[in-house]
Amino acid sequence: MGIRLLGAGMYLPEKVVTNEDFTKIVDTSDEWITKRTGIKRRHISQGEYTWSMGLKAAKNAISNAKIDLLEIDMIIVTTISADFAYPSMSNVIQGKLGAKNAFGIDICCACAGFVYGLDMAQRYIDTDSNIKTVLVISSENVTKTVDYTDRSTCVLFGDGAGAVVVTKSENQAYSYLGADGTGAELLYSHLYPANNGFTDENVALENAKAFPNETGRYMYMDGQEVYKFAVNAMPDAMEKACEKAGIRPNDLDYIIPHQANIRIIETAVKRMNVDIDKVFVNIQETGNISSACIPVCLTQLVEQGKVKSGDKVGMVGFGAGLIYGAIVLTV
Ligand code: UT7
Repeated sequence: MGIRLLGAGMYLPEKVVTNEDFTKIVDTSDEWITKRTGIKRRHISQGEYTWSMGLKAAKNAISNAKIDLLEIDMIIVTTISADFAYPSMSNVIQGKLGAKNAFGIDICCACAGFVYGLDMAQRYIDTDSNIKTVLVISSENVTKTVDYTDRSTCVLFGDGAGAVVVTKSENQAYSYLGADGTGAELLYSHLYPANNGFTDENVALENAKAFPNETGRYMYMDGQEVYKFAVNAMPDAMEKACEKAGIRPNDLDYIIPHQANIRIIETAVKRMNVDIDKVFVNIQETGNISSACIPVCLTQLVEQGKVKSGDKVGMVGFGAGLIYGAIVLTV
C-alpha cells in the first residue's frame, strides 16, 4: 500500500525583504547574492510563532483536501525552529485545529524534513489499519536562528510553512533516506547552554569543545563543505529512490529539490541527467526556508496546474546532520 496527495497548502509571512534591503545592514550587494545563490527576495516572520505559520499552512491544505478535521488520524510536524522545547508543535497545532482524533509527532530532520515526514506518513499508514489520513506540516522560522551581522548566512534564509494531507492509496511512494553524521559539526545552532547550579566552568569549557559555541544561539555553517556534500547527496538520493520505483530520474514528471542555492540545484540536476524544465524552482522569491521549501514548492506546483493526477513527483532534500533523502510520490 502507499499514499496519495489529497491536498497541499502553504503560508508565507507578509513581510518581504529584498537583496537591496540587506545592503543597508551588511556589506553585500544584490549582484553577489543573485549570482552566488539565485535569491532575490525572502518572506520573514515578524515575531509570528512557528506553530502559527504551520497552522495556517495546515488549514490551507485541509481546505484544498476537502476533508473533515476529524478524519485526520495523525499529524507530523517537521521543523528546525520550534517555538518550545516542549510541548511538541504537532500537539499545539492539533489543539488549535481541533483535530481531536489525531495524535502528533515532531521530527527534526533539517531541510530534508518534509521528505522524512512523507516517508513516515506512508509507513504509519502501511502498518496501522487505524491510520488512513495524515497531515504533514513543515513550518520554519529560520530567520530567528540567524545572525543578522553575518553576511555569509543571513542573506540566505526566509520563513514560511507548507503542509499536505495524504491518504491511503495503492500507489506506493518510494524513498531513500541517508545521513553522514561525521558532518554534524558543519551546520548547527545551539539550544540551551548545558549549565546548572553546580556547573564547574572549566569542566564545562572542556565538554563544549565539540560544537563550539562561538556563534551563541545563532547558526554556524561551513557553507562550502555543505555545498560539496549537497551536489553529490541530492543526485545520489534521487537516483536511489527512482531505482526503487523502477524508473530513471528523467522519467519523473517533476522534480522538487531543496531550495538552498540555485548553483547547487543546477549542478545536482545536471548530475541526475534530468531536463531542467522538469525542475521546480522558487528560490528567487523565498530563499531557503529549510524543511518548508519542498511543500511550498509542491503547493505552488499544484496551484499552477502543472501536475495532474497520476503524475510522479520526485522530491529531494539535504541539510544539517548532514542528512539527505528523496521520495517519489504519485500525486
Ligand atoms: O539548507 C542547507 C543549508 N545551507 C546551504 O545549503 C549552504 C551551502 N553553501 C552555499 O550555498 C554557498 O557556499 C554560500 C552561498 C553559503 C557561499 O557561497 P560561496 O560561493 O561558497 O562563497 P564563499 O563562502 O567562497 O565566499 C566567497 C567570498 C568571500 O570573500 P573573500 O574571502 O573571497 O574575500 C566571502 O566573505 O564572498 C564573501 N561573501 C559575501 N560577499 C558579499 C560571503 N557572503 C557574502 C555576501 N555578500 N552576502
